[in-house]
Amino acid sequence: MNEEICVLACPGSKNLANGIAKILATKIIDVELKVFPDGESKIKLNGNPSGKLAVMVQSTYPTVNARLLETLFIIKKAMKMGADVCAVIPYLAYARQDKEFVEGEAVSMESIGSMFDSSGVRNLITVDIHSDTALKYFTIPAYTVSAVPLLANHFKKQDLVQPLVVSPDIGGSKRAEEFAKIMGTESIVLSKHRDRNTGQVSIDDSIPELAKVKNRDTILVDDIISTGGSIVKATEVLKKAYCNNVLIACTHALLLDDALDKLRSAGVQEIVATNTIPSQVSKVDVTPAICDQINKL
Ligand code: R5P
Repeated sequence: MNEEICVLACPGSKNLANGIAKILATKIIDVELKVFPDGESKIKLNGNPSGKLAVMVQSTYPTVNARLLETLFIIKKAMKMGADVCAVIPYLAYARQDKEFVEGEAVSMESIGSMFDSSGVRNLITVDIHSDTALKYFTIPAYTVSAVPLLANHFKKQDLVQPLVVSPDIGGSKRAEEFAKIMGTESIVLSKHRDRNTGQVSIDDSIPELAKVKNRDTILVDDIISTGGSIVKATEVLKKAYCNNVLIACTHALLLDDALDKLRSAGVQEIVATNTIPSQVSKVDVTPAICDQINKL
């Protein structure tokens, strides 16, 4: 048993926290949440992390804002009890708003960075943060762990027809390249456009790279599936270009409302996500990657 570290199992990520504690061979402290009728949250640590490095594990979903506030309450309490805190936030919300896309918009990620900087945590670990830009808003040491090798190895074991890795947009191109390299194949990048005012997504179905998809199994790789809109549009474009099957690999499966139904109706054959957010498609465990990073601190 490692007596110098303990893991705080926070309300949003109990299973992940248990997995991390098991690998690190540490004590686990359960963090209890009570939500009052008006929506306020009360946090209680059922154990004392005094004198230890407390690894608090909490994804900021669902719901985003409540989980973020709970995170602050937990950090403050653990520190007051005499712990040093490492924040493990497997899914870090607001990373997509990493710049002022439309004049007047707040750069939400800037505030999230400041929030963790001033919280007193020693460092922060997240998984597949949306962009490198988002990571730059921290002054504390902040690390993003890649789930790509774990996801790619999951698909590598499958018997696929000339697999081709596809990024739905330019922002995910490096992720798709890394994925394809591990699978020993190639990748292409689609041209996605999101109307910054309406949120509507469109994908160009006339780019020359689409000639490569014919009769091949395509694996769409994305960091987040929220409404499913981006992946549905990408699936339509791939099918129009006569691909064989469409499979999905994603890190954070938010899967709002009927997103899964929409994806299945679009003809997606398989959806595989990690367990940064628990869901019925969370088949890949990111615990080992997070623990590797904790061990490097
Ligand atoms: C955006 O650039 C992200 O990488 C995801 O593609 C996006 O957040 C997915 O959102 P939705 O599922 O609502 O289209």
